[in-house]
Amino acid sequence: MADHGNILEGASVLLGVTGGIAAYKAVDLAGRLTAAGADVRCVMTPSACKLIRPKSFEAVTGRAVFTKMWSGPEEYRINHINLADAADIVVVAPATANIIAKVANGICDDLLSTTLCACWDKPVLIAPAMNSRMWANPAVQRNVGILRQMKFDLIGPETGRLACGAEGVGRMAEPADILAAIEKIAARIEKS
Ligand SMILES: Cc1cc2nc3c(=O)[nH]c(=O)nc-3n(C[C@H](O)[C@H](O)[C@H](O)COP(=O)(O)O)c2cc1C
Repeated sequence: MADHGNILEGASVLLGVTGGIAAYKAVDLAGRLTAAGADVRCVMTPSACKLIRPKSFEAVTGRAVFTKMWSGPEEYRINHINLADAADIVVVAPATANIIAKVANGICDDLLSTTLCACWDKPVLIAPAMNSRMWANPAVQRNVGILRQMKFDLIGPETGRLACGAEGVGRMAEPADILAAIEKIAARIEKS
């Protein structure tokens, strides 16, 4: 990373977007990261692609978006290992109960989960977002505990109005707060 005033200038950030209703907020995050000088590569799960189009991320990052294991905008020149190798910082926002379970258990059944499996020793920030009943599920909490043991950073979820209309814990942290957490991680990397 370059040593400029802006800590994220030149940082390579891998943004994983999963199939939570908060996926639309990840576009804002991708835009903020790009504006901060980061080189943002987005990897979306098939469920995320049902909620929001890859084009939105392409538009704000100016970069191709990766959605498939076996083909993509740059075909086989960029695969899950290249994506992992290139990343200085990895962020998953929103992180569904499903991706949290897959990462915690080493499951690799799509491009994002496979890429994340190769990122276990990188700085990874997870922003969970789900219904509060899902968040309270002991299996979800066990998986979150595993991510903490793996030294992943977590931000949120926050309490408030959920997409389903209920009040409770489960809202994804706000993009501005996620950006601030990423900047803190970048500062930590720079010091080490
Ligand atoms: C409209 C809609 C919104 C959803 N929102 C969430 C969510 O916020 N959090 C979550 O964990 N799952 C949510 N789901 C369920 C996930 O999309 C589902 O578990 C999916 O398998 C997740 O796949 P992924 O983790 O590969 O993206 C939602 C599903 C639908 C149809």
